[in-house]
Amino acid sequence: MLIFNKKADLIDHLQSLKSSSIGFVPTMGALHQGHLTLMNKAMSENDITVVSIFVNPTQFNNAEDLAKYPRTLDRDVEKIEHLSSKIVIYAPEVNDVYGDNTLSEHFDFDGIEDQMEGKFRKGHFDGVGTVLKRFFEIVKPTNAYFGEKDFQQLAIVKKLVSKYNIPVNIIGCPIHREHNGLAMSSRNERLTEENKEEATLISRTLYKVRQDFGTKSLQELVAEVSEVFANNPHFTLEYFEIANAETLLTATEIVEGEKYQAFIAVFINNVRLIDTISLN
Ligand code: PAJ
Repeated sequence: MLIFNKKADLIDHLQSLKSSSIGFVPTMGALHQGHLTLMNKAMSENDITVVSIFVNPTQFNNAEDLAKYPRTLDRDVEKIEHLSSKIVIYAPEVNDVYGDNTLSEHFDFDGIEDQMEGKFRKGHFDGVGTVLKRFFEIVKPTNAYFGEKDFQQLAIVKKLVSKYNIPVNIIGCPIHREHNGLAMSSRNERLTEENKEEATLISRTLYKVRQDFGTKSLQELVAEVSEVFANNPHFTLEYFEIANAETLLTATEIVEGEKYQAFIAVFINNVRLIDTISLN
C-alpha cells in the first residue's frame, strides 16, 4: 500500500508509472461505504486509482465544525487496503497543499456558488475550488469521481474544470444510503444511535416531496417541509429548496422539459447534515 504525504513524491511516483489512465477520488477521510463505492468505480475504469485524504481547512466556514471533523486516518487506510492494496493514497499535511498561506482563491462559478451551501457556508466553494484545482494539478487525473450527495459541489467542480480548461472527466456517482434511507456521511459518526434513527426523517421527507411533486405547487411542498421540521424538536432546518437541477436556481414553477432537484440542510444535535433528491 503506497501512502504519500508529500505531493513531490506522489508526482514522481505517478510519472514513473506512465499509466494510460488515472482515476482520482478526493475525500476528507472518515471513509464510509459511499466513498468506497466511488473508489470501486474509479478502479473499474482506470489503470491507477489515487485517493486523497485531506480535511481541507479553507472550505470550513465554522472553526468548531473543522475542529470536530472526524479524523480516522489509520482506519481509513485499512478500509482502502481491504478494498485494494493497489490504490495510491495521498494524505498530506496542510502545509504540503498550502505552504504558509492557508487561504482560498476566489472563484466565479456563474452564481452556483451563491445558492444553498454557498449562501449558508460563506466561502465554502472557494475552499473546495482551491483545493481541487491544486489536486488536479498534482494528480493530473483522467477521470475524477464525485458523489451526488454533494450535488451542488458536483456542479461547482464541473464549472471549475470547464472554466480553467482542466483536462479531466468529472463523473457523478449516486448517493449511497443506509438501509433506513439515511444518506451516508462522515458527519454521521458524530450522531448517537438515537439521532441516526431520528435522522431518517430527512430522507423520508425527501421521498415524500418526490411523491407529491407535480401534484402540489412548489410553494406548498416547501411550506410542508418547513412545517415537518418546525414541529420536531430534534431538528433545526437550515434550508429546504427545490431548484433547477442545471442552474441550481430556486424554482418557482415547474417548466415542462426541465429537471428539478430538492436540497435540504438540517442540524440534529449540532451536527449539520445535507441530502438531496432528483424530483423528475
Ligand atoms: P467528503 O465529504 O469526504 O466526500 C468525498 C466524496 O465522497 C465527495 O465526492 C462526496 O460527494 C462523496 N460522498 C460522500 N457521501 C456519499 C454518499 N453517501 N454516497 C455517495 N458519495 C458520497 O466532498 C468532500 O469530501 C470535499 O469537499 C472534497 C471534494 C474532498 C474537497 O475537499
